[in-house]
Amino acid sequence: KFRKITNSWWMSMAVEWKPIENLKEGEILAEDLYDRTSFNILLSKGTKINGEILSILKSREILWLPIETKETTQMEKIRTSIDFDQEIIKMDEPMAVGLKFSIEEQVYRTFIDSFEKISKDLKIGEKIDSAPIERTVGQLVDEMMTQKEFVVNLFRKHSSGYLYKHGINTAILSLMIGVTLSMSRYHLVPLAQAAVFHDIGLMFLNDPEYVDIGKSSEREKLLQHTAIGYKVLASADFISNEEVLDAVLEHHEKYDGTGIPLEKSSNNINFYARIIQIADAYDSLTSTTSEALKMSPYQTIKWILSRAGKDYDPYVVNNFLRVVGMYPTGTKVKLSNGKIGIVLRSSGIGLLIPVVIIDDHLLDLSKDKSIWIEAVAD
Ligand SMILES: [Fe+2]
Repeated sequence: KFRKITNSWWMSMAVEWKPIENLKEGEILAEDLYDRTSFNILLSKGTKINGEILSILKSREILWLPIETKETTQMEKIRTSIDFDQEIIKMDEPMAVGLKFSIEEQVYRTFIDSFEKISKDLKIGEKIDSAPIERTVGQLVDEMMTQKEFVVNLFRKHSSGYLYKHGINTAILSLMIGVTLSMSRYHLVPLAQAAVFHDIGLMFLNDPEYVDIGKSSEREKLLQHTAIGYKVLASADFISNEEVLDAVLEHHEKYDGTGIPLEKSSNNINFYARIIQIADAYDSLTSTTSEALKMSPYQTIKWILSRAGKDYDPYVVNNFLRVVGMYPTGTKVKLSNGKIGIVLRSSGIGLLIPVVIIDDHLLDLSKDKSIWIEAVAD
């Protein structure tokens, strides 16, 4: 039952995310770089960086790359740089009104730690100890259920792999949507579990047990990741809720029935999957680690809105909007008084009238009706 894979990527090398201005020619790309919407590979793992590649990356505004290092990865080495919007939140704390959720760095690290451990155990066919992640998911759900207002505040720049961060960011965003939909703990826990593991199949694209390696193109392999994730989790036998497995399988189905792998449509698609796919899109598109298609939060929301009823369940999209607002935290806006403001959070009474920061002070646009948003200055 135990599969042995000798040259597992996480053991043979460590991955360090480096800004491209610090890269030297000859350094080696540690992970495949994908265009996350078309599923095409932009650069494959093992590519040697040279001047030509650097200039292409710059022209596509790719700013960070996963690079091979010879050291062993250690969790202590995870560096967190706090996002711009979190700086604002800290600065503003004494004046802020209402409750906000912002996940503690320590909770995030513990979450990454247990998710990374399970992923590695899955990869080598080790028996899974599901207790740590169940505990962390439970804690997160409890914490989020007591929040009345969310500020989307995701940690982006951990040096551990994209897959782990993406799983956890997707879980956090999915829970925000779930709470907004008044889902009970009974449903929020499996929702978070499915969100954490939704892309786990990506780790097995070169595993002959799941993929016909010689006969599949990279794109064909990628399209199989939902089915592979389902198989991996089902055979590891540590997730008892079938709905969680279905959500993993169906997270690339589309509302209009044109998705993969089953071409299910509308309400036939697993409900957790319909939430996860929106959270997935938001994190993928705004994430600093998938720079090829990076969009601002505002552009991403417009993009998701434009696909309501086509790719996404319009009911879930509406509730997602209630979470992030039309002008998400950190969005630069041009105000009617000619000044540029930065959105801190929604005002709680409308998606279009957030609380903004101008010249170091707070302005609640729902209270001061003489000033309004003219345009996004992103
Ligand atoms: Fe996926």
